[in-house]
Amino acid sequence: MTAPQPPFAPAPEAPFGPVLRANALTKIYGSAPVETHALKGVDLQIAAGESIAIMGHSGSGKTTLLHLLAGVLAPTSGTVSWRGRDLASMSDADRTKLRRSEFGFVFQSGQLLPELPALENAALPLLLAGIDRSMSMQLAREQLGRLGLAGLEQRRPGELSGGQAQRVAIARALVSDPEVIFADEPTGALDQATGWDVMRALKESAYICGAALVVVTHNPEVAHWCARTITMTDGRISNVAVQQPTSLEAQLVPPPPPAIFGGVGGAAR
Ligand SMILES: Nc1ncnc2c1ncn2[C@@H]1O[C@H](COP(=O)(O)OP(=O)(O)OP(=O)(O)O)[C@@H](O)[C@H]1O
Ligand SMILES: [Mg+2]
Repeated sequence: MTAPQPPFAPAPEAPFGPVLRANALTKIYGSAPVETHALKGVDLQIAAGESIAIMGHSGSGKTTLLHLLAGVLAPTSGTVSWRGRDLASMSDADRTKLRRSEFGFVFQSGQLLPELPALENAALPLLLAGIDRSMSMQLAREQLGRLGLAGLEQRRPGELSGGQAQRVAIARALVSDPEVIFADEPTGALDQATGWDVMRALKESAYICGAALVVVTHNPEVAHWCARTITMTDGRISNVAVQQPTSLEAQLVPPPPPAIFGGVGGAAR
């Protein structure tokens, strides 16, 4: 008998194809004789709402892959396409727009603007996208509240703990209701317990928003929360593991009604 599939389980083949598709990606930094072949032919498909952990030793190409997928860096050869559209064929302005509206980013640390309060840091993607200021602040306030930061909106990053600052960064990544969240070792600078809480917040938030999550991590337990783990070795994917859904998702509340989140996406796009 086949066990019932929970709603977060990745479809073996997404019904409308993957949202993000990397094909034969290579990346060479520098030029001969000091070239670094950081990626040597990577194929990857990411379905809507899917969670993927990227693991591997230092220097194996994880960050490079993340940056190529997000259109931050251009590949040396190969293609990355977003809903069937090659990122390389887009204008810089369109790529920037795509990054702002469809992608959210969480990095290890140091990504918040130190002079801005948490609320404005979280609202930044909306303000940059030209959303009305009071609407931006309201959406950012709601997102901070969902991440347990109510009451801390006016604190600057230097007045927050490392875990709180990462939650602000997660709020900022989520505030524009992105389709994909890219996170590069988001808990790498935190102690184990705080890192666990922050990762859980990230995973829960992505799930509730229906966003795909691509997270680079050195922590196998964090990877276990993701539906798929790919391991990078020397610029190539050396292993793909599909996880059984864990109890984390089973404990999560169902997504809120579209009236709450649909409005956010509509406003940001
Ligand atoms: N801007 C750059 N210029 C030259 N070489 C680079 C550059 N960025 C990365 N590299 C090299 O490319 C390879 C892959 O780097 P990458 O940052 O993708 O690794 P990583 O798996 O993220 O490592 P880590 O776990 O240490 O963050 C490494 O050999 C690195 O030295
Ligand atoms: Mg890295």
